[in-house]
Amino acid sequence: MEHPKVTNEEMMKRVLRFSEVRKNPIPVMFIDSVQKGHQRLNYSLIGDGASENPDFSPMLDAPHTFQIGMHYAEPGNGPAYHTHDYVEMFVPLKGRWTFYWGNDPDGEPEGSTELGPWDCISMPPGIWRSFEVNKDEKEGGVVFVVLDQHAVYEGKDPYWAKHVEEGGKALGFYADENGMMVKPDNFDEVNKDLLERLQARMDAEIPPNG
Ligand SMILES: [Fe+2]
Repeated sequence: MEHPKVTNEEMMKRVLRFSEVRKNPIPVMFIDSVQKGHQRLNYSLIGDGASENPDFSPMLDAPHTFQIGMHYAEPGNGPAYHTHDYVEMFVPLKGRWTFYWGNDPDGEPEGSTELGPWDCISMPPGIWRSFEVNKDEKEGGVVFVVLDQHAVYEGKDPYWAKHVEEGGKALGFYADENGMMVKPDNFDEVNKDLLERLQARMDAEIPPNG
């Protein structure tokens, strides 16, 4: 196979520095993101990251056959019980996290494991999962997310447990049948409040490295 020549300019477009990534958080990316215990900053490095909120741009837009996202969450926070039609893998970068899984969206998790930096866990399609920064951590945690390539806004993605959908609705948040968030009138206000609070804490714990 003959490989095309790649210029240095093209190569530099494929470099993402954390100092830039951290300036592009998406607070309310999902209908769980406004709920207690699930508040976090989401980052889309490559691909849509299964976002229900369509208003964001991945930082690296060259075609890939996988996607990369990242979350920052305070202790006791992380994504609520959900699943996807594809594989999703997690690698904590900071803090101790606990991952839960099960086969019944409305039942108790059947298993859990604690992971720290350098560990990883791969969730197969269809398993219900949630995870959070351990409650006894003193600082927030960061996790890297790798997702299979997948269809976008062609159906529910993520699928949420019923109590998560109900919790979102109580705050005015839901996703339509294509998995796209229907935003309430106060969306901008809620998004801004979450952003300011979490960004201030993250900047205190992970000082900008310039
Ligand atoms: Fe997920």
